[in-house]
Parts: sequence; structure tokens; C-alpha cells
Amino acid sequence: MGKDVIVACDFASAETTYAFLDRFTGKKPFVKIGMELFYAEGPSIVRGIKERGHRIFLDLKLHDIPNTVKKAMAVLSSLDVDITNLHAAGTVAMMEAALEGLTRPDGTRPLLIAVTQLTSTDQAAMENDLWIREPIDRVVMHYAENAKKAGLDGVVCSPLEAAKVHGLCGSGFLTVTPGVRFADGEVGDQKRVMTPAAAREIGSDYIVVGRPITAAADPVEAYERCLNEFVD
Ligand code: C5P
Repeated sequence: MGKDVIVACDFASAETTYAFLDRFTGKKPFVKIGMELFYAEGPSIVRGIKERGHRIFLDLKLHDIPNTVKKAMAVLSSLDVDITNLHAAGTVAMMEAALEGLTRPDGTRPLLIAVTQLTSTDQAAMENDLWIREPIDRVVMHYAENAKKAGLDGVVCSPLEAAKVHGLCGSGFLTVTPGVRFADGEVGDQKRVMTPAAAREIGSDYIVVGRPITAAADPVEAYERCLNEFVD
């Protein structure tokens, strides 16, 4: 898979999601399904979007004991998504178990990537709430190395971290980066943002874009603009 724009379909129902996707006549954007939509609609939303011909990143961020995550991943594996994820904080053992569960009897499996530290977690929260005293960028890099050690395919990270992750884990280790905004657009609640063009310069493999596309007056035009800046 090459560079692509993943549209975060952060909607509360199948109806809203399909109405949104219907606007993309003839185009099949790579779609991210997160917790809100999955918990509202269940596996049928994944099957439905897949049947329409979209590639899917199922963003459920698993984090539990290795055996539970392994079994959950085996279930997700049958949904035939393209990318899914977990929290690197679950340990190397949990990530290895997840990979085992995700791998089908014929050896195929979706790509598996790890969340390092959420972009909503800052140094103060990490120190005060989690009692992790190292600098946050060292923690992110350590978690990325753990994901690589466990055999995962990449990480979700801030576009500002993508180049460093590639330097440490290799250019083939995927960086999937949210926090993307147009130069002239609203930032909203994202703290550290980058334009699609800058994310391309810095070497992100996939950008995850939500509101700049979903809340645009013309979502299709906004999606094309992202593609033009990031891919073409
Ligand atoms: O609307 P916006 O472009 O901010 O959406 C970004 C998407 O990426 C959302 O679905 C959000 O949950 C997700 N995400 C994020 N930061 C992370 C991990 C995921 O913004 N660290």
C-alpha cells in the first residue's frame, strides 16, 4: 500500500455514514471506523463499508491481557479490514499475542499498528497521572521500538514524530498520522497540527483526516484537496 488519505468517519450511525460516503460518487476513499461508529452499529458497519469497496482502518485501540487481545484480534481478523490497532502500553507480550490472533490460518492478516502515547496526553499528564517520568518523545520512540520488536507494521503518531520513527525503526515501518489541517482551516481541539503537504514532506505514510473533510461545505472537494497535497 502506498501513501493515502484515510477519512475518519466519526459518525454516530450507519445512516449518517452511508449518506456521507454516497457523496463520493465513483471514488472510494480509505475509511477509518472508530469506537463511536463501531459500538453504535457493530460489525455490520464494517461489512457494509467493505462491500461498497472501501479499504478500512478499524481504530479500536485494544488494550487488555495478552490472551484476551489475541482472541479479540482473531474475531476482528474475520472482518477482513486492511489496518487495525492496539495500545503499545499493553506491552510487547500483548502485541505479540495480538499478531498471533490476527493471523489467519493461511498466513494472511490485516496490518497491525500501535498507538504510542495519545496526542491528548502531554508531559504533565504522563508524569502526574501515569507516573512515567521520561520525556514524552523518548517514551513515544521507545514504544515504537517495542512495536517493531513485537513484529507490528507501524505506529499511529503525530506527524511531528513521523521522521524520527522512520529513522529509528526503518522507512518501511508505517507512520499513520492524525492531526492534519489545511493551512487556512480550523484547528479545533487538535494541539499539534500539520498541513497535508507538510505531512508528505516529513514522510508520513498515511494521514488520518476527520473534520477538515467531514465538516467541510464540500467534503469531496476537501478530500481531493488532501489527496492533491499529500499524494500527487
Ligand atoms: O477531526 P480530526 O481530523 O481531528 O480527526 C482525527 C481522527 O484521528 C479522529 O478520529 C481521532 O480520534 C483520531 N486520532 C487523533 N489522535 C490520535 C489518535 C487518533 O486525532 N493520537
